Amino acid sequence: MITKTTPEVGGMGHPIKRKEDARFLQGKGNYVDDVHLPGMVYGHMVRSPYAHARLKSINTEKAKQLPGVLAIITGEDLAKANLAWMPTLFFDKQMVLATGKVLFQAQEVAFVVAEDQYTAADAAELVEVEYEELPVLVDPYKATDPDAPILREDREEKSNHIFHWEVGDRAATEKDFQNAAVKATVHAISQRCHPAPLETCGCVADYNKATEKLTIYLTSQAPHAHRTLFSIVGGIPEQNIRVISPDIGGGFGNKVPIYPGYVCAVVASLTLGVPVKWIETRSENLQSTGFARDYHMTAEIAADENGKVKALRVKTLADHGAFNAAAQPTKFPAGLFSVCTGSYDFANSFCEVDGVYTNKAPGGIAYRCSFRITEAAYLIERAIDVLAAQLKMDPAEFRRKNFIQPDQFPYKTPLGWTYDSGNYEGAMNKALEMVGYKELRKEQEEKRKKGELMGIGISSFTEAVGAGPAHTFDIAGIKMFDSAEIRVHPTGKAICRMGTKSQGQGHETTYAQIVAQELGIPASDVIIEEGDTDTAPYGLGTYASRSTPTSGAATAMAARKIRDKAKKIAAHLLECSEEDLEWETGKFFVKGAPSKSKTIQEIAFAAYTNFPEGLEAGLEAVNYYDPPNLTFPFGTYICVTDIDKGTGEIKVRRFVAVDDCGNVINPMIVEGQIHGGLTEGLAIAFMQMIGYDENGNVQGGTFMDYLIPTAVETPHWETGSTCTPSPHHPFGAKGVGESPNVGSPAAFVNSVVDALSHLGVKHIDMPITPWKVWNILKEKGVVS
Ligand code: CDP
Repeated sequence: MITKTTPEVGGMGHPIKRKEDARFLQGKGNYVDDVHLPGMVYGHMVRSPYAHARLKSINTEKAKQLPGVLAIITGEDLAKANLAWMPTLFFDKQMVLATGKVLFQAQEVAFVVAEDQYTAADAAELVEVEYEELPVLVDPYKATDPDAPILREDREEKSNHIFHWEVGDRAATEKDFQNAAVKATVHAISQRCHPAPLETCGCVADYNKATEKLTIYLTSQAPHAHRTLFSIVGGIPEQNIRVISPDIGGGFGNKVPIYPGYVCAVVASLTLGVPVKWIETRSENLQSTGFARDYHMTAEIAADENGKVKALRVKTLADHGAFNAAAQPTKFPAGLFSVCTGSYDFANSFCEVDGVYTNKAPGGIAYRCSFRITEAAYLIERAIDVLAAQLKMDPAEFRRKNFIQPDQFPYKTPLGWTYDSGNYEGAMNKALEMVGYKELRKEQEEKRKKGELMGIGISSFTEAVGAGPAHTFDIAGIKMFDSAEIRVHPTGKAICRMGTKSQGQGHETTYAQIVAQELGIPASDVIIEEGDTDTAPYGLGTYASRSTPTSGAATAMAARKIRDKAKKIAAHLLECSEEDLEWETGKFFVKGAPSKSKTIQEIAFAAYTNFPEGLEAGLEAVNYYDPPNLTFPFGTYICVTDIDKGTGEIKVRRFVAVDDCGNVINPMIVEGQIHGGLTEGLAIAFMQMIGYDENGNVQGGTFMDYLIPTAVETPHWETGSTCTPSPHHPFGAKGVGESPNVGSPAAFVNSVVDALSHLGVKHIDMPITPWKVWNILKEKGVVS
């Protein structure tokens, strides 16, 4: 029975079910929302309906009188504890609860705590907030205009400009452009979108006054980093904080930042001495938590008359919203955007990015993406197609001509990255063959003669995943390495704990497989645990496809330490020297006498019952792995679309995805990762945008208008692979999870543009809706 709605934010109420909903009354699963502790109370946010307004007054009297209301926290209350603002992951600061003014619609204004969540929601509606509207800034291009309102009055710099960042050789690039026979330009927007994970963000903060221990059940992709930040910012000794991140229902980067709701729940629990649960609604998640992209980009390519590329010049405006809460390494204000030279052999390149504040929600998170790589891959793959079309060259042949060649690896890009390994032509050839490229081009020609619209889009992307190395990468100053701890029990079974945190990527399976591969202990005998800071070794968490390149590597390295010790024990048991032993998965045997052997299980038992003098008992190891470089997976995606002239509807007829992530641990999981990422890429290309009207009202704040693809919209994905191992990873693997999201938007868009290219269409911004296509057809006189 639905009896109440949350305050209307942007005109979009979200129904909360009443107590009759049993799911809220008892734990049913292993999600934060399922945590149900004795005496637990509930928090609910009061949010601003305005995008930019001065806070005149907050009156909580009526709300406090509602039976069951326990506390109402405002920005002024937090200011007394110096907590009204908190640092963001990118060394900006962000209001926890508004003080002075609000800067985006749905911003957190007050936190109501009550005995049940329905009372908390009712009381939130009774909090009276008086606002005085201020001029709203939504267009990033207007942010630095002299008459633009200055949004961040707290900053010394009286400007909406956040940063200018540039990399590459400006002069050499300029020279190449001056001498170039051919130049092509594309202006492309990677629109503001949202990861929209299955579960929204939330926490249960449980402060125990007797033990002084604070346990936070948290939707966290980085539990250890969050524990450290809670300790530093909140002044709570770190040993007294335990962050538990259970199943979190997907993250996709959305669960990397610390949100005001978490902080308020902790403050309320510290104050009241009872557990406080805060779970945001779907609309709160879409409207206020970390958005992705919002990059407004221009790429120019200089080439010779034969179509050999020479230089790439990129200029980008990054809309960061009200606070710079980008989750990216501190050396890189634009993340890894400078991987924008992609798979191509440019002699010179220059890339510059400016960040600005607007009246929008903060974020800039890495949505299934290594810190802005999706934006970079989309831009270069669009620009390459634009130049190929300008030269009237086939886009596949144009790519072939300009790819970095296999013998050029390790390859240093003009913007400073060193790609570890690659065979771009190999992946493209396989994809072309799978899709039947030549036949499709013939079919397209025939169809064009008949006035039918069919497109073929190619994207040959290069990715950069697996941050660290620690000397280059950090999150909020914490170096990026990762960890694994393996303990082998006397009976040969094992428990392993990692610093990463699975959100559905199947770490429980793949890490166990690594242990099985390295030690010969069957995967079914291995328990994998992540997400509890009291038990797991310190790590930076899971995002940006870093788990396999970091904790996966750490697992192999820890297993190899165990193998070294196991060898000593085996030599003792077999009464021979270590040099006389050989390893075969699962056992050591005496060289030349294979029957004289000891299995890993026998050795494990001996590690506790019969180990040589001078050797420590037990069989366990920890490894903190600092990768020497990122890994650079790649692939070619080809999308075939048919467009209905009458409606503008785009039908993805075929989609072939050939990925190369080096050695694969689990092909089925990798395929699942590809399917999921392609579906998200499809949604971004055709369906999704968090837009704003001129008053800063969010357009895209519910699933009614922020569309999630279902089985109906999702085509059949045809997958294939090539294998180019990473030379520096312990078992040659590269990350894979984000590749399909990074590589696919350009394939979808290139396909639609290709279908319309004979009409003079060079570019269409995402999301490419049927309405946009139909309007283009109308403009070109194809339909009346
Ligand atoms: O960091 P995250 O887990 O999101 O990304 P990943 O390292 O790309 O791994 C995603 C899933 O694919 C994990 O279960 C990996 O172990 C698995 N994987 C694999 O089986 N083989 C690879 N070469 C890469 C990833």
